[in-house]
Amino acid sequence: MSNSKDLFDKCRSFQDAKRVQAAGVYPFFRPIEATTGAQVVTHGRKRVMIGSNNYLGLTHHPRVQEAAKRAVDRFGTGCTGSRFLNGNLTIHEELEQKLAEFLGREAVLVFATGFLSNAGTLSCLVDRNDVIYSDRENHASIVEGQRLATGDTIKFLHNSPADLERILKNSREEYDGALIVADGVFSMSGEILNLPKYAELAKRYNCRLYVDDAHALGVLGPEGQGTGHYFGNPDAADLLMGTFSKSFASIGGFIAGSQEVIHYVKHKARTFMFSAAMPPASVGAVLECVKIVQEEPEHLARLWKNTRKMKRELTRLGYNTLASETPIIPLLIGDDMKAFGFTQKLYDHGVFATPVVKPAVPDGSALIRTSYMASHTDADLDYVLEVLEKLGREFGIIQPSRGTTVYRDVPPESVVNPATQPSL
Ligand SMILES: Cc1ncc(COP(=O)(O)O)c(C=O)c1O
Repeated sequence: MSNSKDLFDKCRSFQDAKRVQAAGVYPFFRPIEATTGAQVVTHGRKRVMIGSNNYLGLTHHPRVQEAAKRAVDRFGTGCTGSRFLNGNLTIHEELEQKLAEFLGREAVLVFATGFLSNAGTLSCLVDRNDVIYSDRENHASIVEGQRLATGDTIKFLHNSPADLERILKNSREEYDGALIVADGVFSMSGEILNLPKYAELAKRYNCRLYVDDAHALGVLGPEGQGTGHYFGNPDAADLLMGTFSKSFASIGGFIAGSQEVIHYVKHKARTFMFSAAMPPASVGAVLECVKIVQEEPEHLARLWKNTRKMKRELTRLGYNTLASETPIIPLLIGDDMKAFGFTQKLYDHGVFATPVVKPAVPDGSALIRTSYMASHTDADLDYVLEVLEKLGREFGIIQPSRGTTVYRDVPPESVVNPATQPSL
């Protein structure tokens, strides 16, 4: 007993967050008092939100809000159990069917969150003699699925088919089944996965391909069906994962694939079987979002118009926006404390953004992750650019000679045809 320790010692010595709080630049858990999606009220003041994943701005669409209310009237506020047992509603099954049609897949299984979708599916599919080949920058919920799976995980360099191929050559023979897993749009950098190349490698090395389209759903493809449709090859991935916590304005997640595989996951994924079902209001909201993305293309068009404007203007100002090609546009800041200080200044100037620091990014590569929505007005975006120009210079992140203040005159841009979304 003399070597034993109190389990809570680590909590007492955990100082990281307290140090940032003491410096007055702690950017997390800011309570939102009111929101329209594109603007929020925090600490009694209105601010432009550029830290959200509400890409299509549908959280405040009247049809979505009405649909959520109707679902509550009909089914109440919660399912009080897992879909496996007592919590399976007709609207869960309707949503699965509508999503399968929308995505062009045989079957869909709806989970309570995207995190649970990844964790449950990966862990039930990958057994002891199987292997997951995983991009180093995959989302934490994929990492959790890898931890829960009994098979091995081998990581490859971020968005590098060449590194994946090198690893496949050296290791594929050692395993039974294999799954290549990657985000369709990387959540920090905003890059799009080179899906055709990964699909080709999967075929050549007898692997299955799993794509997490959390940030592609509602954003890429003619109606926002995701990376497969964007590349004109909807079936490129064997399994497609998505979440409703971003473009689809709610909470919940899904896996789409063949009947056979979805049936297996439905009866094996512990995060599906032993966790309560997605609540009625959320299901109602998502069902309406699936209709809206097909009936109202203007949201997607506006999202891309805003995205193109911000990428162009931020680059012109001299920001390093990495390889972003989507509404997620990171701003490279460098030092963690500088990123916290910069975020605080943005906040003080009425702009709500979030920093990304180590270990989410390598030491010295701290970012401000900005993201844009269909519901941002030109006035919102012009204001953000004005503040970013001022602060970028103050912090020495952009050079004084770069950029001139012409935001108010940004030339009107032709509406992007969502069927031919250009890359940025
Ligand atoms: C790439 C990616 N996958 C999965 C998830 C998890 O989704 P959810 O918020 O529905 O749990 C997220 C959300 O943060 C994500 O960004």
